[in-house]
Amino acid sequence: MPQSLFHPTQIHLKQSALVHNYHFLKSKAGSHSEVAAVVKADAYGHGLKAVARILFQEGCRTFCIVSLDEAWGLRQELGRTARIIKLIPSLPGEYTDGVELGLEQVLVNREDRLSWGEFLKKKGQVLPVHLKVDRGMGRLGYPYREFIEDLPFFRDTTLFRVVGVMSHLPASEETPPEKGVKGTGGIYHTSAEIGRFEQVVETVRVILNATPALHIGNSGTALYYPRSCFDMVRTGLALYGADPRGGDPRKAGLEPVMEIKTHLVQVRTLDKGATIGYGRTHHVEQPTRVGVIPVGYADGFFRSFARGGQILVGGQYCKVLGRISMNLTSVDLGRAPAARQGDEAVLLGQQSGAEILAAEIASWGETIPYEVFTSFGRLIPHRVVQP
Ligand SMILES: Cc1ncc(COP(=O)(O)O)c(C=O)c1O
Repeated sequence: MPQSLFHPTQIHLKQSALVHNYHFLKSKAGSHSEVAAVVKADAYGHGLKAVARILFQEGCRTFCIVSLDEAWGLRQELGRTARIIKLIPSLPGEYTDGVELGLEQVLVNREDRLSWGEFLKKKGQVLPVHLKVDRGMGRLGYPYREFIEDLPFFRDTTLFRVVGVMSHLPASEETPPEKGVKGTGGIYHTSAEIGRFEQVVETVRVILNATPALHIGNSGTALYYPRSCFDMVRTGLALYGADPRGGDPRKAGLEPVMEIKTHLVQVRTLDKGATIGYGRTHHVEQPTRVGVIPVGYADGFFRSFARGGQILVGGQYCKVLGRISMNLTSVDLGRAPAARQGDEAVLLGQQSGAEILAAEIASWGETIPYEVFTSFGRLIPHRVVQP
């Protein structure tokens, strides 16, 4: 097998954009609050090791992951200096490796604490933990009352070292309601949730008699509630250059990091009466230059993207024609008549001044940029880091 194969479709990671976003978020969060990088899911599809290396060089020291594999990758890349927080509970089979890798573990309830406690007692080890309180997400975390009941245990134990108390805001991207109007949908309001966490913090200070790092926020918090970043803010999406509100990232001060480039593998003219794709859903009404790219739903370019979908060829927006296949997609080259087989086609990112954003792609398939990034990232493994 050759050392390096040519791959027509690649993910480009723009280093300068990542660096810009990190420093921008730091400036938003302020000097009292650390910006931690959420690099789970292969750094949202951008490539765990490359992203971690770049951010570490810029001064980032705390990284959030969800699996031991990711933690292992980080240790290989960054050594022992980086702080690694495992955001989801570990199962007993993971405990030994978790401790060995030097992870800080998020603890989510009493059962979690008891299970870990048994293990730590047997091994004579101490685990640094972030106690997670559920305040509105209804997913992971201590129910409030159980959390308060367990706090004295953490004050008195030698098995756990509480390094953080945290929560996770479920709607930090929401637009704050106008004065006197109830929150989004009349049911939830991030400011109120932040207020409740402040009360938790007071209780923690009194009972725990310690000063663990407090953190509740994500990208939406850093961008829209920067005064509520507490000691640390765990940012993912914004680091990668997308606005959690779905708007133009540049207006939010961010630079898109991921670009996806491929090449036309076929160009030809189809005559009136021809049909395109499975199910023959597209009927050619007049002679049309049609390009084919070697990307389809198996690469994260979902079938649902056909509705409204377009790519860039020669700096022009070219519409998807017919259904997206597993590994191929046809596009209308009417606006790029000079295009030839082998020419570059951009699915995400810029070309000659034109641009397709993740939020736009997400809107075609009624999804979110998070899913666009992670799907492309998982399925197009060939990455290039650009300065
Ligand atoms: C616990 C936790 N904190 C922070 C984040 C980062 O969120 P975002 O990508 O919106 O910044 C996530 C992402 O899912 C998360 O699960």
